[in-house]
Formats: sequence, C-alpha cells, structure tokens
Amino acid sequence: MSSRTPFIAGNWKMHKTVAEAEQFIAGLLPRVYSADAVDVAICVPFTALQAMVDSTRGSRVEVFAQTMHEAAKGAFTGEVSAPMLSELDVHGVVLGHSERRQYFGETDKALAQKVLVALDAGLKPILCVGETEDERERGDTERKLRHQVQEGLERLSPEQITEITIAYEPIWAIGTGKVATPEQAQDAVAFVRALIKDKAPEAAPVARVLYGGSVSPDNAAELLALPDVDGALVGGASLDPESFGKIVDAAVHIAAS
Ligand code: 13P
Repeated sequence: MSSRTPFIAGNWKMHKTVAEAEQFIAGLLPRVYSADAVDVAICVPFTALQAMVDSTRGSRVEVFAQTMHEAAKGAFTGEVSAPMLSELDVHGVVLGHSERRQYFGETDKALAQKVLVALDAGLKPILCVGETEDERERGDTERKLRHQVQEGLERLSPEQITEITIAYEPIWAIGTGKVATPEQAQDAVAFVRALIKDKAPEAAPVARVLYGGSVSPDNAAELLALPDVDGALVGGASLDPESFGKIVDAAVHIAAS
C-alpha cells in the first residue's frame, strides 16, 4: 500500500432493511473506532441512507449511495439525484458498478456526466471499472479499462480528478469467490493509475485506486499490501460487521507497517 490513506468501502448492494442496517452499524462502530489511519465507508440502499447517516454521525464511517441520476430533477421515475443525496449529508456515491452497467443499462456517456455532477454536489465518487472473463481471456483487459477510465474522467478538470476514487473490479471476480491473483490485481490497478496519469499527471499520486471482487478477511492483507492498491470495495464480506471489521483491521496493520 502507498502513502495515500487506505480506503475500505463496503457495498451492501440490495441487502439490509433499516432495522438490519442499524444492527450492523451497532456492531461495526466499536470495531473501527480506533482505525484512524483508514477511511471507512458503507454504500447502502437508498432506504437506509438517512438512518445510517444519523447513526454514524461523529464516527469515522462515511455513508455512500450506490448510484444516482445525472440530472438534478425531472421525469425519471425511480431515480435519485445528487442534490437529494447531499441534502441527507451522504458523503459519496458508487458510480458505474458492473451490476448497474449490466442490468440497468448504465452507459459510459451517462457516467461521465454523473461523476462530474457528483463532484459538483460535494459527493465523493467511486467509479467502478473492470473486464469480463471473456475480455480477459481475449487479452482485452487493458483496452476495456482504458475505454472506461477515459470515458469516466472525460469531463473532469485535473483538480477534479485528484478527488476521484476508481475501483478496479474484474467482473469475473465479483461474488464468485474467484479473487484476482496479486499479480493480476497489481497490474490492473497500476494500469488504471497510469491512465489517470495520462489524463492528469498531478492526480496520479493522489487519486485512490481500489481493488474489488471476492475480497475477504482471508485474502485482504495480501491484496491491500500490493504497491498500487489503496484499499478495497467489498461486497459479500461487508454484510457482516465482524468480517468487514477484519478487512479494515488488515488495512490498519498495513498502513502502520
Ligand atoms: P464481492 O466482494 O461480493 O465479490 O462483490 C464485489 C463488489 O461488487 C463490490 O462492489
């Protein structure tokens, strides 16, 4: 891990009612109380945002949404905008998760606008990128990452790029238990950083790049120790305060070493 502050974010996806979220956070807060050297976030369903913002106030846990619309308001049934999230004191938003791209038709073009709108609203974006298994087997990983990163950052100024977090999530590793090898994760994350550098040299040492895909308490230490990996976007293992807390602990140990 680098000199950048490690960032461990848990993406709950479509899990947890408000009551379950409250139970989770009661278990997590004491575990991460002294994790000073690490930034911690939970990315929760819209319905749990207000409750989690209230329950984490004054703690080191930030609360993120999992998606948002690029327009401030309008006839977009079912959608939520950046001003609606900021009003709740939400800290950030996950954008372009592969599940949003695959099941809900999220496009690179819309994402370029969403990243800009999120930053303008004071929300920290986590932009997700990653290749399918077929793309990796065909040797197209870098081409895919180049396309997604370039499109995602297209509308940002160099100063705005310093504020972005990119999560490299190989689609074949999401929810499969098939984690990327340390070499695959390091190569892809370093490639993403090189793409950031091409676009904004001053942002490359500052912007954080995370790894996501089957991160667990068992493999976190090895992944987080990789030189270019600044943290993790954790799915399944973030649903339980004990396993998520262990991943935060792994980041604390590496930051201290
Ligand atoms: P898993 O950790 O369950 O593989 O999910 C990763 C992910 O999609 C996080 O956004």
